[in-house]
Amino acid sequence: MSSSISNKILAWYKKHKRDLPWRSYQNQSDRHYKVLLSEFMLQQTQVKTVIPYFNNFYKKIPRIDLLAKTRLDRINKLWQGLGYYRRAKNLLQTAQIISDKYNSRLPSTYDKLINLPGIGDYTAKAILSIAFDKSEIGIDGNVKRVFSRLHNIKDNKKILIKLNEVKVKKNSSSLMQGIMELGALICRPKKPLCDQCCLNFTCKFFNGLKKNSKKKSLTKIKVRKFYALIYIVKKKILLNFETKFGPLNGFLNVPLLEVSEKKLKNNITALFSKKFTFSVNHKINIFISNFKADITLVEIKPSDLTKIKLNQFKFYSNDQLKKEFVSSFLKKILSKIKFL
Ligand code: ADE
Repeated sequence: MSSSISNKILAWYKKHKRDLPWRSYQNQSDRHYKVLLSEFMLQQTQVKTVIPYFNNFYKKIPRIDLLAKTRLDRINKLWQGLGYYRRAKNLLQTAQIISDKYNSRLPSTYDKLINLPGIGDYTAKAILSIAFDKSEIGIDGNVKRVFSRLHNIKDNKKILIKLNEVKVKKNSSSLMQGIMELGALICRPKKPLCDQCCLNFTCKFFNGLKKNSKKKSLTKIKVRKFYALIYIVKKKILLNFETKFGPLNGFLNVPLLEVSEKKLKNNITALFSKKFTFSVNHKINIFISNFKADITLVEIKPSDLTKIKLNQFKFYSNDQLKKEFVSSFLKKILSKIKFL
């Protein structure tokens, strides 16, 4: 599994990596210098902010030995706007040590790197993997988030164990940058693009999202049973403006009852005269906002209308209905009984 994770990241990175200026180089020492400079600039600063500063700095000071001979005030000037000027001072000191002690060659061991000013655990590991293809992975915010979500773990030690499992012998540079790139572009802090992620086949966070949304959709859709009373006299249908049923409120509708089958007869009696007959004809389902309405159409045939509260109800002919707004709910009922 861990090798399929690294293979997926490597393949994704190859295809989707951004064309960042420190990712292309003329030779190995140019590569080392670009990685060193970019890693200093990228501490506490976003990629898009760094790009123009990196380009300008590199154009003016393109090598580590030249950097070592540059005065701090000039470096500060090139750094102006990036902030955290301590990084500029540390970078200069690091370049001077590398120039004096290591013949202007960037060291390639953790112990030597970690002792240079401005290089902590993350930067040392990032340099080892990105510049030298050594089997290391520096843990920054992006890397942590990707692996934390992938395995649903928060603990740093556990994240480190999982990262160690995906390490590769070849292509460490691409793997490290691939994980960071995935964190920056896909596994974003807010609104991650899980559908596009090359690791979603095994990601605990993504699978959790899927399960939750399934659960939600299962629990969210409630079923409510209604009886819709159909009463037609002389090609006119009895309707009222609904007042009781949330999303149907204010819309013209056939009288609706949300009662059990047992109570149906009593409820119809309360509306119509006692002398009526009714027959259950059709059943339809209608989805309204967050519930499904199971509707049983009940055809009413009262023998007198004395008890109908006509101030609430009105008979509508087909032509009259055409002048009214007919909701899709009512439309569905009327088309079922072929009134529309
Ligand atoms: N953040 C820190 N180092 C980075 C790098 N080399 N590429 C992109 N983002 C980074």
